[in-house]
Amino acid sequence: MKQVLDHIQQKKQAYEQLPFFSFVRDSSINPMRRLAWAPYAAPFIMSFIDLNKYVFRVEPTEDPLQEIINRHTHEDDRHWRWFLEDLEKLGFDQPLGFNDALQFFWGEETRFSRELAYQFCRYGLGSSPIQKSIAIETIEAAGNVQFAAAAVAAKDLQAVTGQQYKYFGDVHLSVETGRTFGPTSAEQYIENIQLTPEDREVAFELVDTIFGVLTSWKSDLFIRAQAHSLEEFQPAPVGVQ
Ligand SMILES: [Fe+2]
Ligand SMILES: [Fe+2]
Repeated sequence: MKQVLDHIQQKKQAYEQLPFFSFVRDSSINPMRRLAWAPYAAPFIMSFIDLNKYVFRVEPTEDPLQEIINRHTHEDDRHWRWFLEDLEKLGFDQPLGFNDALQFFWGEETRFSRELAYQFCRYGLGSSPIQKSIAIETIEAAGNVQFAAAAVAAKDLQAVTGQQYKYFGDVHLSVETGRTFGPTSAEQYIENIQLTPEDREVAFELVDTIFGVLTSWKSDLFIRAQAHSLEEFQPAPVGVQ
């Protein structure tokens, strides 16, 4: 499994270089603009409720790796509450008709966000704990890049509004270290798992596919954040134009 984990880290380094992350980290740009992609990311972020509860978790289990995954899912399925809190603080929690909301969440503007959730279902439902752990390690490595960049924007925005942003800021980053299961004996356990050549091939394909969709998603969020009318989501936080 060590080779798969190393592959994830290599993909992570390339992912970090995407223009989207330079934009989110760029303190010369209005921090509201740098977080204006948040509503478009909602379907994927909220899908973690179901991914953790119904796709990755299997209880009860006798399998030690599934047990490690289960522990992770219990921690990870709470973060969406921070996301909702932040959306409100950012001024995105505005009234929207039910049908308009349905069209937004199943529309073109959020398609990559949904596609990611579907990819995780593909690699998670009915899969072995090994395959699930690879999918989780991949998304957590990518998540660490996102949260590190978003924390810069959140800090810049906090300097203006005085608000703390838990999902986008340091609170979340401190629990999203990029190494899902470690550094602990659990991480060691996963590293030492022996894969057959066929399993390793499937694992590499999984990692590449997920990073591929993640990259399309970030390109799309980059365009949407730049095009987004910040005025649409009044009231904006105090002091931000
Ligand atoms: Fe996470
Ligand atoms: Fe999280």
